[in-house]
Amino acid sequence: MSPETTGESRAVQEKIAALRRDLHHHNHRYYVLDAPEISDVVFDQMLRRLQELEAAYPEWITPDSPTQRVGGVAAAGFDRVAHRAPMLSLGNAFSPEELKTFHSRVIAGLNDEPPEYVVELKIDGLAVNLIYEQGLLMQAATRGDGEYGENVTTNVRTIRSVPQVLFDTGEPAPELLEVRGEIYLPRQAFDRLNLVRSESGEPLFANPRNAAAGSLRQLDPAVTRQRALDIFVYGLGARQGREYATHSEMLTALAELGFKTNNQWRVFDNIDAVIDYCGSWAEKRFQLPYDIDGLVIKVNSLAAQERLGMTAKEPRWAIAYKFPAEQATTKVEDIFTGVGRTGVLTPTAILTPVRLAGSVVSRATLHNADYIEEKDIRIGDTVVIHKAGEIIPEVLSVVLVERPADAVPFQMPENCPECGNGVVREAGEAAYRCLNPACPAQAREGMVHFVSRNAMNIDGLGPAVLQTLLAAGMVRDAADLYQLKAEDLAGLERLGEKSAQNIVAAIAASREAGLGRLLFGLGIRHVGAKVAAVLAEAFGDVDLLARATTEELTALEEIGPKIAESIQGYFADPEHLLLVSRLQSLGVKTREEKKTVNVLSPLNGKTLVITGTLSRPRPEWEALIQKQGGKTSSSVSKKTDYLLAGTEAGSKLDKARQLGVTILDEAGFLALLKQRDTGENDDNGR
Ligand code: IVH
Repeated sequence: MSPETTGESRAVQEKIAALRRDLHHHNHRYYVLDAPEISDVVFDQMLRRLQELEAAYPEWITPDSPTQRVGGVAAAGFDRVAHRAPMLSLGNAFSPEELKTFHSRVIAGLNDEPPEYVVELKIDGLAVNLIYEQGLLMQAATRGDGEYGENVTTNVRTIRSVPQVLFDTGEPAPELLEVRGEIYLPRQAFDRLNLVRSESGEPLFANPRNAAAGSLRQLDPAVTRQRALDIFVYGLGARQGREYATHSEMLTALAELGFKTNNQWRVFDNIDAVIDYCGSWAEKRFQLPYDIDGLVIKVNSLAAQERLGMTAKEPRWAIAYKFPAEQATTKVEDIFTGVGRTGVLTPTAILTPVRLAGSVVSRATLHNADYIEEKDIRIGDTVVIHKAGEIIPEVLSVVLVERPADAVPFQMPENCPECGNGVVREAGEAAYRCLNPACPAQAREGMVHFVSRNAMNIDGLGPAVLQTLLAAGMVRDAADLYQLKAEDLAGLERLGEKSAQNIVAAIAASREAGLGRLLFGLGIRHVGAKVAAVLAEAFGDVDLLARATTEELTALEEIGPKIAESIQGYFADPEHLLLVSRLQSLGVKTREEKKTVNVLSPLNGKTLVITGTLSRPRPEWEALIQKQGGKTSSSVSKKTDYLLAGTEAGSKLDKARQLGVTILDEAGFLALLKQRDTGENDDNGR
């Protein structure tokens, strides 16, 4: 073995040991103390990482590795009971590809015979085993480590949806029946519980699953009773008596015996349909009144299940499909400081690439120095990340147990990383700024902002092209863009003639983007897209805005003194005035065309309510109504003049009928508009 290999293998061995130590720790927090420190997703990722390492280095698998056990250990306070048939856990698939791999393995295990699958919701609660003898509930136990669990019979008896006695189906009651299911807390009950706890100053439960576990493992069953726990059952363990041919038959029989099964299960005969069904729940799951963390795919035929058998801890005939992780852990390899268009220095974490919510993430924003200090984020740390607003990766917290001894605290640079000028932190601000107006980073980022989607929306001009144009001295500011010719661009690295033409056409088209987008694109501090639109609407002309007084500005609801001061400061700078006038002379529209309301319209001054499904999106109808001088409201009342009702209209239609409000369908509505359409109704808004 070469020295490198030895070094590498030692590092892997240490990593395996560290992962095992942490997983044991988190298992204990989760199962024994009911006080997890990390999310399940993060736990799953750590476990998976360990599985990967052990798969690559099987010689280091030990019997006490967390990968070799199903779950936690029994807590003090409840009797330990053995399960007659082990309670297994499931392997995970995180993508359609992994489901296909699972399918290939199943087919191979069944001599190329394609199976039928049952797909069920994976309820996010805790597994229980219910033992019925001669039709009577005798014992209920948690899963525990899969072989031994805790006897929670008294508490489970308080759950109303758990039958104490099986229904009489006409057949003799089975001698023994082990029923497996998931106990969960509906989201509404969870919110209520936490509300009560916050009022009485008790610590809050992190999620409904923890709350369900905490509620089930109460030593006083009276407490459990108040918690509104519920159950869905999904399978059988040991049994004597009736046999079943398929899992779906078993689910049907369980429902007939009086159990609550979840009715979203479906049978499919091909993996593509399974994948489609799984995908269909990605968004829909948020409408359920309880949490699910994925779906479970099971081979339907019990004979086929038998043939497939199981690995050390997981059946080969079933798998859990998990939704893309909303959180992930990864390592901060470095922290890089970028300079934005207003000169603000923004630290960004450079991460070991990791999958997160459907994409691979290698950077995350750290916002500012205060944020880093508050979370104590250091280079070398393992951190939990998520996507803020489902888009921007952000560091949430540091996994302190993973901190290496040589982790490096971050220091904000004293000089601008782009121009070398000193940076300052203004009183009361979190941000450090480079105050050099000639800083190349500010020019570049300002241009990136100017062309961005919500500003002038110029396609094809990415940061790299802009950087090249600036570096070559072909542009210095936004106005210069309007003088570019296709032949200037075509010579640039990686730009063909066709893309050059497209870019020039996109620049030309942006002349018509309108005042709101232009104002946003100028990058005036505190003027976001929304404020820019308000200003454009109110002033209608950049020259009027440039001369606006504080009173005029703050008279607008959305504008406070801080924004007003920033706008005035912007237009007090001769450089900015010059830029605006150059944009004007190059044909960029700096005036808003006045929208006139058609006072002769039959809708002028009327109140309308829109309901049901219409042939076009609702905002289009609302805009049309507003242009005609009408108002829209969300509920029908005596003040409603018209109800515009599409198909599948419901209670609003009934209410309008009751109140005698005039009801219009689309055709009726358009006919009404035509009645008095005398030509003033100018669609171009002029
Ligand atoms: S089947 C051998 N079906 O997920 C099959 N499990 O990691 C074992 N779960 O311990 C489980 N909904 O707590 C199955 N419809 C469902 C489920 C489900 C939730 C939980 C259960 C199990 C874990 C598997």
